[in-house]
Amino acid sequence: MKVFNDLADFSNDEIQALLELSNRLDAYPEPQALRGKVLSLLFLSPSLRTLASFQAAMTRLGGGSFVISPDMSIHGLETRPGIVMDGAAAEHIREAVPVIASYGDAIGIRAFAERKNLEKDMAEQEFAALTGLIDTPYINMESAMNHPCQNLADWKTMDDLDIPSNGGKFVLSWAYHPKALPLAVPASTLYTAARRGMDVTVLRPEGFELPEPLMQKASEAAAANGGSVTESDDRSEAMEGAHVIYAKSWSSTRHYGDRLKDQELRNELVDWCVDEPWFDNARDDCRFMHCLPVRRGVVVSEPVLDGPRSVVIPEARNRMLAQMAVLHQMLGGTS
Ligand code: CP
Repeated sequence: MKVFNDLADFSNDEIQALLELSNRLDAYPEPQALRGKVLSLLFLSPSLRTLASFQAAMTRLGGGSFVISPDMSIHGLETRPGIVMDGAAAEHIREAVPVIASYGDAIGIRAFAERKNLEKDMAEQEFAALTGLIDTPYINMESAMNHPCQNLADWKTMDDLDIPSNGGKFVLSWAYHPKALPLAVPASTLYTAARRGMDVTVLRPEGFELPEPLMQKASEAAAANGGSVTESDDRSEAMEGAHVIYAKSWSSTRHYGDRLKDQELRNELVDWCVDEPWFDNARDDCRFMHCLPVRRGVVVSEPVLDGPRSVVIPEARNRMLAQMAVLHQMLGGTS
């Protein structure tokens, strides 16, 4: 494997192989598998889980890693193309990225969407500009529309809980958040649940519809794997018989790039906080998933987050295990 960028790039057999490898590495650790290997980690956007879980994954496999982010004591990173660098930043990503990549055997890159132009973000122009600077194997640690490490961990989490693929009902729900957040998690989570063959409902208020190309991509993946994709703004209807609710806030697609109009719209939606009454129509054992970080009492109530439905902690631990499998394959792990 040279690139881990999008689950859509992998066959069902390849995804299953990664999931099986992650389970094997959990049960039977391989502390020498990546001895002498180095992973470069470039964070152009903030992180807790991705930062810590990649470092832990490399250490558990016997390799090493280093982290670079703009918040560190570096020279100030310029990202704009064609700029005359007479401002604060003394280093351009055109040099920084290949230099960082050259120190490792693979590189992980995180760069959130600019969130000014939906078409540009959907085309992944920024991430492609970064990966175009390197020829080392790379891992997408979250870009404008993708978060494949989260997706693989979420798939494993549902497998671990025996949540059915075919016949399993997955509700991807928008939730209130005071800020307009990127589309990477909802877009790639929608695809993942559809690809797993689940019956997926996107529950969202008007103005927060996911873009049609993403719905189409997910519908095709669902159809090919025995599932389906629908959308609704009716909470009770959407939650009927649900095995999982996966909550996430995202930017208004109606007002993408217009923070003020987005804010006006979301200010009316503070009741989109997942709470126990949401589960009235769901299965008794319906689970609550979220990629974290999550705002308590805003996105989800404390009783749900701290209660038996919530699987957010094992879901976050699975990030490390899923990434161990990716790194093992990418860096030629030996048992
Ligand atoms: N879920 C996730 O990617 O978490 P971080 O943003 O903390 O890395």
